[in-house]
This record gives sequence, structure tokens and C-alpha cells, in this order.
Amino acid sequence: MIDIHCHILPGLDDGADDAEETLEMCRLALSEGVTAIFATPHLFQGMFSTDRSLILSVFEKTRNMLEEEGIPLKLYPGSDLHLVPDLLERFAQGKGLTLNHGKYFLLELPSRVLPQNLNGMIFDLISNGYIPIITHPERNEVILRKPSILLQMLSVGALCQITAMSVTGEFGKESEWLSRALIEAGGVHFIASDAHSTGRRSPSLLPALQVAEGQVGKEQARRFVVENPEAVLAGEPIEGAVVEALPRRKRFWLF
Ligand SMILES: [Fe+2]
Repeated sequence: MIDIHCHILPGLDDGADDAEETLEMCRLALSEGVTAIFATPHLFQGMFSTDRSLILSVFEKTRNMLEEEGIPLKLYPGSDLHLVPDLLERFAQGKGLTLNHGKYFLLELPSRVLPQNLNGMIFDLISNGYIPIITHPERNEVILRKPSILLQMLSVGALCQITAMSVTGEFGKESEWLSRALIEAGGVHFIASDAHSTGRRSPSLLPALQVAEGQVGKEQARRFVVENPEAVLAGEPIEGAVVEALPRRKRFWLF
């Protein structure tokens, strides 16, 4: 398996605290059958002073460290990129950081208020060769209230990554419902750990994969953690998702 979203680089954001924790996260991932991880620290997130060159220099050191320690896990560069109004300009200025320097990138949306012209922004990014992978929409308050916002983004050409812990219910009933509904409706391209530590938010994919296998079968579920991540690495196209509607949800926790 390949984990495309993981805060595994030490000391950069709210992910791994230090090199020791990074190494332990790698060992945990390996023990579950993860063979490669995209290191994706927050970028353009006001709380952390990360930038492209800092991330890349810590990435190189970390990759060397894994080699020295004899840990057979492949590490690829990337970032957990937050939506800012001038995102396209920042890419043009060379400030962005896509997954393994390819055309795909992780895009985290603001949790409480989404911009009016969201679909226009997505369209502009894609037209310029940058394909956004929307990270954990099932944990976004606005999308939880109105999942059709996500379905519109998918119809414009965005891809969708859900969090393993949402699928297993560890982010609450609502995120569990939406992540599983998206899997069932064909609206998911990736399941990733979005791990931040060796503790509660560890780099674990297997339990979520097993849930997905139960929903859509082994072959389809494999795409979320093997084939689509491989396509990201190879820069190959990934089929979009056209989702008309999601399965109905129970109303008892809706409001
Ligand atoms: Fe993240």
C-alpha cells in the first residue's frame, strides 16, 4: 500500500515531533504493509511557518535518515496544501509543492466557510495542469451539511481522499457515514492515513481498507491504496468520479 497523506516529517508542523517519532511512524506503517509514504506537511496554513524549500530540505534529510537506519520504506515529497485565494499564482511563482513534483496535489479546504467561486478555482487549477485531491471532505463541516458541494467539485475534475480513521468511525458518526457513503457511491479515489503521530493518529490503513473491501470488494478497494497512488507517482490519469447522489443517511444525528 501507498499512503498519500502523512505528516511524517519531524518538527515541521503538528505531525511527528522529532526524528524518533518519524522512525517509529515508518515502522508502524511497514508493519501494516505500507511500502511507500508521501510526506505531506501543511503548506500555506497560517499556523505553521513551512515553505517549499524548508519542506524539501527536511524531506531530503529524512529520506537519508531512513536509508541510514535501514528502513525499507520509500518516501516521496509532497505537501498538505491549504486553499488560499491566490493558489494558482503561488504555483506559478514556484511556491507550491505537489505530490512527488507531479500534477496531483493534496488540497485541504477551509473547514467552516468555503469560497463562493470554489468550482471556478478548481476548474482554473485543473486547466493549468494541477489536479487537486480534496483531502478528508468527510471531516469538513460545510460538506457534511451539504455533500453536494463535494459532488460538484468531483464533476469539475477534482479527486477525493478520505481518512482511514473516518471510515472506521474514529472521527465520529457523521464522518463515518459520509466516508462510507462516498465509497459506496464511487466518489472515493484514495484512502490515506493523514497520520500525525505514533499515538491516536498513527499511519494505519488496514482496518479502513477492510471496511472498504466489505463495501465494494477487494479489487475496487485496492485502487484506493495501491493503484491510484501508483498512478499519482507515474503521472498517469486517474478516472474521475461522477456521483449523482449519495445513499440516504439516517436523520437522527443530522441537526
Ligand atoms: Fe493533513
